Amino acid sequence: MTLVPRRRVRKVMHASRSRRTGFQCRSGDRLGMWSPSVPPPRYARGMDSRLFVGGEWIGAAGGPTVAIRDAATGEVIADVPHAGELLAREAVDAAARALPAWRATAAADRAALLQRAARALRESTPALAAVITAENGKPIAEAEAEVAYSAAYLDSAAEAVCKVAAEEIDSGSTGRSMRATGEPIGVVAAISPWNFPLAMIARKTAPALAAGCTQVIKPSEITPLSALAFAHVLQDAGLPAGVVNVVAGDAPAIGRAWLGDGRVRKLAFTGSTAVGKELMRLAADQVVRLSLELGGHAPLIVFEDADIPRAVAAALAGKFRCSGQTCICPNRFLVARSVHDEFVAQFVAGASALRVGRGSDGANRIGPLINDAAVEKVRRHIEDAVARGGRVLTGGSTIPVAGCLDRFFAPTVIDNANASMLCFNEETFGPVAPIATFDTEDEAIALANATEFGLAAYLFTRDPSRIARVSAQLEYGIVGANTCAVSDARAPFGGVKWSGFGREGGRWGLDEYLSWKYVCESRPT
Ligand code: SIN
Repeated sequence: MTLVPRRRVRKVMHASRSRRTGFQCRSGDRLGMWSPSVPPPRYARGMDSRLFVGGEWIGAAGGPTVAIRDAATGEVIADVPHAGELLAREAVDAAARALPAWRATAAADRAALLQRAARALRESTPALAAVITAENGKPIAEAEAEVAYSAAYLDSAAEAVCKVAAEEIDSGSTGRSMRATGEPIGVVAAISPWNFPLAMIARKTAPALAAGCTQVIKPSEITPLSALAFAHVLQDAGLPAGVVNVVAGDAPAIGRAWLGDGRVRKLAFTGSTAVGKELMRLAADQVVRLSLELGGHAPLIVFEDADIPRAVAAALAGKFRCSGQTCICPNRFLVARSVHDEFVAQFVAGASALRVGRGSDGANRIGPLINDAAVEKVRRHIEDAVARGGRVLTGGSTIPVAGCLDRFFAPTVIDNANASMLCFNEETFGPVAPIATFDTEDEAIALANATEFGLAAYLFTRDPSRIARVSAQLEYGIVGANTCAVSDARAPFGGVKWSGFGREGGRWGLDEYLSWKYVCESRPT
């Protein structure tokens, strides 16, 4: 691929940025332009389709591009350069060059930059949400919530890094000093998905930058524009050249280039379990640290003592967020036989009332699925469920939306579900809620745990002792009790089993980017 030579693009602007910030600062310098009295720049550029490497914006310059389409209409909204191994390596070069100065900055200064970028994200919400809705299709209110969620990850990492201190270890009466110091792990990579095109990057970039790492990012090839907008926000907030680099394109080539390059010391990936396993194999050669947030298959248990209207409201919000395309969406509903009819009647009424249509219209709650393959998978799961005795109570097919693609799937509720169905064994990643019944608490727990996945699980009950007992037995990284709104930048997000390992958010997320050095000093007696 022929790319515009980096040195020529925005050279002047770049030079003036380094003078303004004086970023080659000694550790401990306070960077005046980040003071809270200076308003953060707002992102208002619309969509930038260039890639971002070494602080420069790189166009295709006649090389291959990928058309990015409006998820609702299929209309081309941008052409993004399709990078391969070469640019992937150049991104690592840039990140490696930027590392010594960035890791030498004071944690407080890195935190200040993140807070400044968080404010800029919040203040740019309409522009950024419009980009997210265009390329992903989700309702605009959800896109706005995603911007807020992303900003919260920046703030959370900024707060966490200020609390990381070197630790003195009690050495007893050995006469030695023992000390552990958290050091940035080095150049890190992030590969992120299309379902939260901004937040899944923010929660990888925030702790990486806070820790003093530099980063190369590959956003989903379907939704790179949010990532590029994020890079603008970071650059405008004063991030030095090369600290963050965004390369979209040939995913296998980029992944191989990064995992085969001994300078990349960690990869954070959110995506499918199949790809996660492949990345684990590739990471072995260079012993690259991984954090993997992979598929989910969340059970939602409604016990007989649940507050049913509350359970229904939470289940609707959790199930149909991003049209059912989140890793933590309830995928299997397990309802106590005695409250089944009451729960199902209310849930079906709620699901069928959700308005389906373009995400850009604020009245709509369900947008399009991401592509035709997603629509086909949802169809296949429904047909399989019906063939195995399931009853479709509402939905079951796509809904035509004027001027749009045939990707708007009606919220679907399937009763009489059972463990033989595809939807009870695979993540559907669509707006389908299969409901099965149970008779005892032990049966509900066994059904909930009968999966290779272990990301999120939900239970609804009025009994606090049951919350404690059941949560302890659920083999999941995240448990929501009487809520499905578990996502919070201050909490550890991640799974067990085939849902992966490693955590994002709060101090746990930061720890993934630190390497603890232990210094043991023998003192003269
Ligand atoms: C995901 O679907 O992977 C992330 C959802 C969230 O963070 O709430």
